[in-house]
Amino acid sequence: MSLFRKKDLSVMLAQAEDGGKGLKRTLGAGNLVALGVGAIIGAGLFVRTAAAAGQAAGPAVTLSFIIAAIGCAFAGLCYAEFAAMIPISGSAYAYSYVTMGETVAWIIGWALIMEYALGAATVSIAWSEYLNKLLGGGIPYEWSHSPFESVTDTAGVIHHGIMNAPSLVILLLLTLLLIKGTQESAIVNAIIVFVKVAIVIIFIVLGWQFIKPENHTPYFIPANQPPLLDASGKIVADYSGVFKHGWGGVLGGAAIVFFAFIGFDAVSTAAQEAKNPKRDMPIGILGSLVVCTILYILFGHVLTGVANWKDFVDPLKGREASVAYAISNYMTGYGWLATAVTVAILAGFSSVILVMLMGQSRVFFSMANDGLLPKVFSDLHPKYRTPYKSNWILFIFVGAFAAFVPGSVAGDLTSFGTLFAFVLVSAGIWILRVKSPEMERPFKTPLVPLVPILGAVICLAMIFALDAQTLKVAFGWMILGLVVYFVYSRKHSKLN
Ligand code: ALA
Repeated sequence: MSLFRKKDLSVMLAQAEDGGKGLKRTLGAGNLVALGVGAIIGAGLFVRTAAAAGQAAGPAVTLSFIIAAIGCAFAGLCYAEFAAMIPISGSAYAYSYVTMGETVAWIIGWALIMEYALGAATVSIAWSEYLNKLLGGGIPYEWSHSPFESVTDTAGVIHHGIMNAPSLVILLLLTLLLIKGTQESAIVNAIIVFVKVAIVIIFIVLGWQFIKPENHTPYFIPANQPPLLDASGKIVADYSGVFKHGWGGVLGGAAIVFFAFIGFDAVSTAAQEAKNPKRDMPIGILGSLVVCTILYILFGHVLTGVANWKDFVDPLKGREASVAYAISNYMTGYGWLATAVTVAILAGFSSVILVMLMGQSRVFFSMANDGLLPKVFSDLHPKYRTPYKSNWILFIFVGAFAAFVPGSVAGDLTSFGTLFAFVLVSAGIWILRVKSPEMERPFKTPLVPLVPILGAVICLAMIFALDAQTLKVAFGWMILGLVVYFVYSRKHSKLN
């Protein structure tokens, strides 16, 4: 049997029609942009901007945002073509099943677990950070950090993490909500989006007057920057690597803040509910990207102007809850804003986690329907009609990561999984144009093959700019996926 056996596109579209029953075409372009922004703005902006500035890019994190946005825009154009052409849930996994065959589809599905499941874990870890900030640091370090993290306090005492308990609490609450099937109504989503965007804008406007030009000089981390140490003299950041200073650092920073853009692809999962997918899908996907990119650049400019980028690697300064840190330490008179920002951020994170957990269960649902995963992932709750068993399994898996793995590790793996999917989606557009030029394409990616090639190249560059440890773990995960495929999934596939 061929490694490249495919699902028939007509079967796929018939399924889409079928699955489309009961879904109403109610979403206009504005709703889709709001959906995208709701899924996009989260830990990437409020946690990883500071991480990228402190570890690789310095104030030039603004340029990192531009590079990451360009990669996303090219991949986003490819997503838009697929989403308008194959409006079915399952996103990149589903698209590749018809274009590149089952093996590639499986590989993408497996990589998407890194995007959605580990993405949810990363944001829940960030949620825990900001909750602790709101409670005035009341949660002991041991119970809010993974066993792989430690800190030396001002008295010289070393604290080691045991598990991140608050992240488990938020994951549990949201899992219960998902099982109950309580849909976030359009109004709740709109309110959260409004609050998130408002907070970002308020921070930019009020923070602007506190920018100190000396924090922006030099703009790039210099090649001779010595390592930074914590209170005990341990190195917390080393700048000798290629992707840790200068323009290389800007690329390294792009790989880190790329996380902040993840979620615009979630717009593509709503393709069946768009009033006019041909016009509105591209607007929804690209519009939310444009809005976020502008906000991100301004935000990065203000954050690194208010506080010095070196503060963002110091565990006793701004390494955690960086935005609240910058406001309370450098924006005199705006203590209230630190609290308001923290509350808004907690609400905003919750909606991102919810979308990620939901996205993951949709991908699992599609894979189980195709026979590639056991049926337990597509079993529906008798009353709530939600994939409740899948939600529980997901809770255990995501919870284990959130409780025991540091946020930066989970975040980098999330970026890997997403970038990997973007590369294959970009390639898929080109392949399908060559193989099935006759297909009806309500939205066409411009300048094929240039746009898909650039999308794939920029995303690949960001993959290689991730640190070596992340690449090793991600590689191990993908190998494990292939083993599962050949031992289980291939034999159980409905294509048999
Ligand atoms: N883009 C989402 C976030 O930053 C995943 O939280």
